[in-house]
Amino acid sequence: MAESEMTSYDTLFGRAALEQRLCTEEELKQCRKELKVRSGGSNPVTLEHLMVEKQVVTPSQAGRVKNLIKESRDVSSQIPGYRVLGKLGSGAMAVVYKAKQLSLDRTVAIKVLPKKFVQKSDYVERFYKEGRIAAKLNHNNIVQAIDVGEVGGLYYFVMEYVEGKTLFDDLSKGKIFSEQEALDIIIQLANALAHAHAQGLIHRDVKPKNIMINKEGIVKLADMGLAREASDIKAARHEQGKAFGTPYYIAPEQIKGEIDIDGRSDIYALGGTLYHMVTGRVPYEASSPSEVMRKHLKEELVPPDHINTSLSAGISEVIEIMMAKKKEERYKNMEELLTDLQAVRDGHPPLIARQRFNMDALGELEEGAEIERRADSTQVYSDEIVAKYRVTVVVLIAVAAVLLLIILFLAVQLQNRIMAPKVDALGRSDISVSWQEPQQKPEHAS
Ligand SMILES: Nc1ncnc2c1ncn2[C@@H]1O[C@H](COP(=O)(O)OP(=O)(O)OP(=O)(O)O)[C@@H](O)[C@H]1O
Ligand SMILES: [Mg+2]
Repeated sequence: MAESEMTSYDTLFGRAALEQRLCTEEELKQCRKELKVRSGGSNPVTLEHLMVEKQVVTPSQAGRVKNLIKESRDVSSQIPGYRVLGKLGSGAMAVVYKAKQLSLDRTVAIKVLPKKFVQKSDYVERFYKEGRIAAKLNHNNIVQAIDVGEVGGLYYFVMEYVEGKTLFDDLSKGKIFSEQEALDIIIQLANALAHAHAQGLIHRDVKPKNIMINKEGIVKLADMGLAREASDIKAARHEQGKAFGTPYYIAPEQIKGEIDIDGRSDIYALGGTLYHMVTGRVPYEASSPSEVMRKHLKEELVPPDHINTSLSAGISEVIEIMMAKKKEERYKNMEELLTDLQAVRDGHPPLIARQRFNMDALGELEEGAEIERRADSTQVYSDEIVAKYRVTVVVLIAVAAVLLLIILFLAVQLQNRIMAPKVDALGRSDISVSWQEPQQKPEHAS
């Protein structure tokens, strides 16, 4: 859009109405067309009046837009050295203006902290810190920090102006990126993050709204506002439990409020962004932020190639490793990730991801073998017991048999004893048997 157009009130009004989502691009286009026609006639109107007249916006909505424009003019008059040209957008915590840096005659973006936040000293501290952190970075794929300051209670952060769009703009229109296009963007971001990580800085809020693409197609990672030094444990403690970041892409360990956040949290968020780009869906969809977070922690990821079946197995594997719930199972660092991203882009398999998958499979196989081993050992164990029982039973039977024999023997002996005739002192038995002593013939009888 031409600069002269940007400074006109009509342009500012139209743009602000669009940014506030009070009208569609089509409605604005129609109104602009009619405005052009009417400006040549006898009854010229402003875009504001025309939009109200055509009921594109209500009079109160038009009033709100007017206030916004006034606010940006106030900002303009307050921040020395800059002239505000218009509002670029607003997020949850700040408003971003397009401005002219008068000394260098260049266009910049100024992020201004709304007054309602100024009371919150921790927020101001963080906002201020953004400038210092971003100033440490110097990379073609990172929005360059220019200046940071405070004037009349207004905190502002001046940065490189990116003429283009955010990745969010494309995704919210339902765009699904081709594998190559997505990889090209993600590789640029991974390079930017590798640079930040090398300086001990973690972004912590990688998401489509913070990814800008300029007119030349160069990707710029914006908003280091939530970034902090990896070693800054104190800051981490302070944030513990607050689970900073946007639920759609946030890493599980950030949700848990862990303090030892490292570059792998950015790998997860970048993986979530890539997932969204190639499938057209966020990784975990739910009706409330807390439910989205619960899913990040507990629910299994639907593999991207199950949603978009035209995806290569390689890119799917890379995304799954990037989004592993346990950070130990992700890529160790951006360099590792870049190796696989570049391999997939060049039509090769992602070796590191594949190795991880194989290791998992190996782990599972080993688990299976262990179960078999355990089953075998159970078998051996039970065989041993059976054998032992058998021996015991045989021994017992043998003992019982011996005992029985002894008893029988004794019984026979006893019976013999009972049956044996008693012999008196003279050696005579008491058994009266039919045996009779042969009668001796008298000697004289012969
Ligand atoms: N350097 C820049 N150049 C051009 N436009 C920018 C720049 N930085 C931010 N913007 C625009 O300003 C908008 C608001 O940015 P901001 O960082 O305040 O919030 P956000 O990232 O969109 O959302 P959230 O508050 O959820 O993080 C962005 O969506 C983008 O359109
Ligand atoms: Mg942002």
